[in-house]
Amino acid sequence: MPDSSAAKCPVAVVGAGTMGAGIAQIFAQAGHPVRLQARKRETLEAALRRVRVNQDELIRHGLLRSEDAEAARGRITVTQNLDEALVGAMFVSENVPERLDVKQPLFAELDRLASPETILSTNTSSLPITQVARDTQHPERVVGFHWFNPPHLIPLVEVIRGDRTADMAMDGTYRLAQSIGKSPIRVQKDIVGFVGNRLQRALEREFFYLERIGACSGADLEVALKQGLER
Ligand SMILES: NC(=O)c1ccc[n+]([C@@H]2O[C@H](COP(=O)([O-])OP(=O)(O)OC[C@H]3O[C@@H](n4cnc5c(N)ncnc54)[C@H](O)[C@@H]3O)[C@@H](O)[C@H]2O)c1
Repeated sequence: MPDSSAAKCPVAVVGAGTMGAGIAQIFAQAGHPVRLQARKRETLEAALRRVRVNQDELIRHGLLRSEDAEAARGRITVTQNLDEALVGAMFVSENVPERLDVKQPLFAELDRLASPETILSTNTSSLPITQVARDTQHPERVVGFHWFNPPHLIPLVEVIRGDRTADMAMDGTYRLAQSIGKSPIRVQKDIVGFVGNRLQRALEREFFYLERIGACSGADLEVALKQGLER
């Protein structure tokens, strides 16, 4: 289980597309050694380019120092090999495509390869955590850890309990999220859409409905949202 008070635990990030690259970046910027895994070399090269672009944006806005950015990039090791990615990893963030037929066999493999105390998290946006963990021997260590895009900018992350997720996995993930500067919430039921996206979709539905019935212009609705909601 990751202990945020001790030395920064090694993290494996599996899948190096839009989310995997940004998540590897955030863990590395928080001081964690990161192994970023993808099957294709080009994916890994593109991910490292994406990290640099994201960091340049933060540097331009005075949110990151260039020497810290460089040090963080130095903490990211890339590999095409899943076994290698998992060596010493205490926490896994899975970021492969949103398909159960891809995630289920991957989690069976992660469960087989990772050391017994390692937490296995999925960044699924919409699949039940319980289903993602279906083919593992230890579903108690599988937890939802849902980030929002772009992961280097949006503070909210959801820590989601599957039907068999243990408190150890929930609490360890929650504390880890706090320690890397994110704003975690606990989602205690494995419900469709979890919480963040449900709230956002509900607001969007109302926004477009009010605009369609002519209750308010889009511009005025934006004022209502930006100026009227409690901050
Ligand atoms: N993009 C978003 O806005 C967003 C936001 C929150 C959560 N998510 C979730 O994050 C996950 C990843 O989404 P993304 O947008 O980064 O997708 P993406 O397509 O950008 O990246 C997925 C990567 O996984 C690789 N991949 C496929 N199978 C693999 C395997 N077996 N092992 C290792 N790598 C494999 C692909 O080559 C690709 O590089 C999905 O579950 C998605 O629902 C996405």
